[in-house]
Amino acid sequence: MSTSTNTTVEIFDRWLRVPFRQTSGDHEDHGDFHFRWLRHQCDQDRHPQTGERVVDSPDIPADVRPVEACLEGDALVIRWAREERTSRFPLPFLQAHAYGRNRAGAPPPPSEVSAVTLQRGTEEGGDGAIEQAVQDALTTLDRHGVAVVRRPRAGSGQRPPEEETDAIIAAFSARGLRVIPTHFGVIEDLRLDNTTNANTDQLGYTNAAIDLHTDQPFLPEPPRLQLLQNIRSATYGGENYLVDGLAAARHLQSVDRRAFELLTSVPVRFHRRQKAFESLVVAPILDFSGATFRIRSSYFTMDPYDRPFDEMEDWYRAYDRFAELVRHRGHQLRVTLEPGDFLVYDNHRMLHARTGFRGPRWVRGIYFDREESVK
Ligand SMILES: [Fe+2]
Repeated sequence: MSTSTNTTVEIFDRWLRVPFRQTSGDHEDHGDFHFRWLRHQCDQDRHPQTGERVVDSPDIPADVRPVEACLEGDALVIRWAREERTSRFPLPFLQAHAYGRNRAGAPPPPSEVSAVTLQRGTEEGGDGAIEQAVQDALTTLDRHGVAVVRRPRAGSGQRPPEEETDAIIAAFSARGLRVIPTHFGVIEDLRLDNTTNANTDQLGYTNAAIDLHTDQPFLPEPPRLQLLQNIRSATYGGENYLVDGLAAARHLQSVDRRAFELLTSVPVRFHRRQKAFESLVVAPILDFSGATFRIRSSYFTMDPYDRPFDEMEDWYRAYDRFAELVRHRGHQLRVTLEPGDFLVYDNHRMLHARTGFRGPRWVRGIYFDREESVK
């Protein structure tokens, strides 16, 4: 005989999980309920004499959400955002209508940066610490889709970060990765006063915020890995953030199957046209059809949608649902790189972004190809 193992109500982006009291066994017993469903069932929206519902679903705000939800006695109590309203839901009522009881859904994308962060050793002549860090980073990347490598903080005899770039590239090459030159060049110097790259008429070379995307989805084979090495930090902003697109896709599948089906089947046109470069690829955003998963996502290189009139709203709903999921801060890995730090991510799995910035921020970007599966 055991009592409930979890009495905490877990709040997710559009729904919450209510633990039900256990009477026997040690298995979890819980119900998942959408915020909207709960708000629609609020017992305060009943006529005091007849008990009939006096509010219909369209009267409820589209973005309804709780600021607080907890168990009090035998009831779930929710305090709603932007409303002077607290709702009570007796657990027997929720158990009787538990449309998502003991779901085994995929978890949302992880946000714990420490799980993907490595500390590089100190160089004692040669580049042994860089080589070891790159080897460890690739192991972490295989598992999580990204690795962040921190350089030891300033010490005597430490080279300027820009003098380590070649050694880092050599260490990746020694692990079987091939540097991919792009239409920008081999090493991208992402800084405002760029003089070293071609085709710099794109957002990466400005100080603008760039929201979540994958790189070069308009190529038939987008580069597999990107290394981002911090050379100089911004004085304000310039934070990097990433989202595990594979975890987001699996999570979407478990919370919104229709949206998942559309995003894995509807082809989208990714089109880049610059002064001296043009490329077009037509492909779904989430692609499970190959040997490994691949995500393509780029709001700034996507052509107008082309869906039948009676399906366009359905498509927008699916697309926006996924965007909302990855934009949720609790689903993001947020990283501020210091000079000499680098991160490397799988561009077929991860979305990446940066906040806008001021100051001399200088980040170097290098693409690599990789043959083996990291599924
Ligand atoms: Fe990018």
